[in-house]
Amino acid sequence: MTTAPANVNFDKGLGNTIAAETEMSFIDGQNGILEYVGIEIDALARNSTFEEVVYLLWNRRLPKKAELDAFTKEIRAEYDLPQPIWDMIRSMPKDAKPMHALRTLVSALSLHDAEVEDPSNEANQRKSIRMLAKTPALIAGFDRHRKGKDFVKPDRNADIATSFLTMLNGEAPTETMARALDVCLILHADHGLNASTFAARVTIATLSDMYSAMTTAIGTLKGPLHGGANEAVMELLNEIGDIDQVEPTIMHKLKNKDRIMGFGHRVYKAYDPRATYLKTFAKQIAEDTGNKKLYEMSSKIEEIMDREVASKGIYPNVDFYSATTYASIGLEIDLFTPMFAMSRIAGWAGHCIEQLADNRLIRPGAHYVGPHEQPYVPLEKR
Ligand code: CMC
Repeated sequence: MTTAPANVNFDKGLGNTIAAETEMSFIDGQNGILEYVGIEIDALARNSTFEEVVYLLWNRRLPKKAELDAFTKEIRAEYDLPQPIWDMIRSMPKDAKPMHALRTLVSALSLHDAEVEDPSNEANQRKSIRMLAKTPALIAGFDRHRKGKDFVKPDRNADIATSFLTMLNGEAPTETMARALDVCLILHADHGLNASTFAARVTIATLSDMYSAMTTAIGTLKGPLHGGANEAVMELLNEIGDIDQVEPTIMHKLKNKDRIMGFGHRVYKAYDPRATYLKTFAKQIAEDTGNKKLYEMSSKIEEIMDREVASKGIYPNVDFYSATTYASIGLEIDLFTPMFAMSRIAGWAGHCIEQLADNRLIRPGAHYVGPHEQPYVPLEKR
């Protein structure tokens, strides 16, 4: 039974419910449009940088040169981690999944932030910068720890993407690698009231704190129906193994009613606009790095899905070509979702500050479908 009381909508999954107002991203799912503060995502991916996009999302306008320089300087000054956090990374099990490590470490950062309980807008903005700036070191630090390598400290002369790849690999990335990551960071930075952003807003709306909201969001992002899908795409590509196996594997899965990871979206019933540029970019990186197999397999999957299910409004989403892109720049599969988190912190933090500016506790109802008028049976008689 899923009927609701007459004055309340029953909306399983909340797909038909507007629960917040935002000035950051606009999504038109029918026509495949995504804008950050009115600027099309494609123009930002082609021309902007992640730092500039974060400024745009948080300030609702593009920065002038001096403003961007000052913002970038503020972020870079916060790149490094408190020593106890580096020590904590060293104490973590090497076989832990990076998303578990990241969720734990972002939460732990709160223990070393004197402003954690300061709810003012100014303090929340400073905490947002800190979390955004430190997350790359958390991810790269954990990866080096699990591989038994020494930590590489962040590079304060480099942008977030370059500093991250330097910490991860122990050497500066090529321009193509750094730009590929920067584009992925831009594309993942914000996306309306997606599941993890909703989770962050629910947490901050109780007047909890920014770190608790980010921790909640990371746990929500981790699932394979949300941010975890990019890892699942790579697992699918590995399972298929070879271009000849694409057609039989995908057709078998579709016949079994299995989901093909990286396809479909709750909001987009047209081509995900984040996937459009990524597709072109993934192709270019494949050519640049000589690693064409993944791109060719992905293209073939898209061709089959287009033939079989596009009529249902199922197209590639952002995760489909970001998986190929990450793999081409040498990232391990279980770092794909942490990359998503590294970027989406921009959106989560912006949404939390937006929520607090006009706050109301977020508390939907549940329609009770269990029994009534049951007797209480004493323990010894059950
Ligand atoms: N492969 C095959 N069929 C699909 C897929 C897919 N990936 N996605 C949806 N369908 C079918 C589904 O079986 C159903 O068919 P039918 O009407 O015949 O039963 C129909 O499309 C509608 O599906 P739905 O479950 O009602 O759609 P939803 O809006 O609840 O699901 C989704 C959205 C993203 C959970 C789903 O498309 C999915 O599971 N995709 C794969 C996972 C994935 O790539 N997730 C990343 C989303 S993008 C990143 C982000 O923003 O978080």
